[in-house]
Amino acid sequence: MTFTHTPVMMAEVLHCLAPRPGGIYVDGTLGGAGHARAVLERIGNDGLLIGIDQDPDAIENTRKILGDHRAEVRLFQDNFTALPRILSELGIPAVDGILLDLGLSFHQIRESGRGFSFQRNEALDMRMDPTRKTTAGEIVNRESAAELARIFKEYGEERWARRIAERIVRTRRAGSAAGIETTDQLAELVRDAIPGGRRPDNRIHPATRVFMALRIRVNRELERLQFFMDRIAAEADGAIFRTGGRLCVLAFHSLEDRIVKQQLKSMASPCTCPPGFPQCVCGRRPFMRLITRKPLRPGEAEIAANPMARSTRLRAAEKI
Ligand SMILES: C[S@@+](CC[C@H](N)C(=O)[O-])C[C@H]1O[C@@H](n2cnc3c(N)ncnc32)[C@H](O)[C@@H]1O
Repeated sequence: MTFTHTPVMMAEVLHCLAPRPGGIYVDGTLGGAGHARAVLERIGNDGLLIGIDQDPDAIENTRKILGDHRAEVRLFQDNFTALPRILSELGIPAVDGILLDLGLSFHQIRESGRGFSFQRNEALDMRMDPTRKTTAGEIVNRESAAELARIFKEYGEERWARRIAERIVRTRRAGSAAGIETTDQLAELVRDAIPGGRRPDNRIHPATRVFMALRIRVNRELERLQFFMDRIAAEADGAIFRTGGRLCVLAFHSLEDRIVKQQLKSMASPCTCPPGFPQCVCGRRPFMRLITRKPLRPGEAEIAANPMARSTRLRAAEKI
């Protein structure tokens, strides 16, 4: 198996996560383990890295490339929402840092054969965790036009969501029992469905948003992130972190970034009293300090070298 991925915003991640010798760190989205390896180099022989990824390819690759590190490494093929259970199984009450680098690895897009990209003709799968039930093909071939339109609009901000959804449903009715099975079929259908879809000078492929929306739906990406952030906030006011422990999240999609922003804000100022109250009566005290008031963005040099980094936003906070 080849596994290619260039970690994004490495210097900024290390600055915000500030891994210290002997610390316990969680990489909840191992991918190609680029960030994980850099964390390992900083935590020394006495540190512990807990690595999680829902994709078995990421776990297999990490096992290969991190084999020679002396710090302890524990790997789990799981969703990062399982972190509280994993920590309790390991008997670890709190950690020094958690990193989430959301979205897809380059390997998943280009090498996994799971239909994440319209640039390759593959089965419409799009599951990061291949043991989960629903594939992109099942969604495209089963959901109503209204639900497909909602997915394309909400997750992909696709202007022509309804048109594309209706075209899918018409094609299903007219076509074979197998329906729309491949990335090529779906990409061609989108091209035909939208005005100007076949113009040679389209700046981005007309199916870009539809593919992104389907992937977000298949993997329930926003729901999982919301659940994780809610758990972190709820766990006895951030008890999952040791004092000084840090949470760093790299988001690529504005909806992901919104979830992270809102949750970090409420951890840093959780008071729910109306603004006019003379004093706080809800008793909720801040338990995180924002390290980034505004999200950090990759520099021009990084974007030039790795255009996939372009839309990344990094937010971080520290347990007080
Ligand atoms: C952008 S890559 C991470 C790259 C990594 N930081 C590196 O340096 O190579 C994202 C990874 O997160 C995984 N992932 C996304 N959402 C996940 C979730 N909810 N639980 C576990 N893994 C997830 C994907 O399978 C993918 O391997």
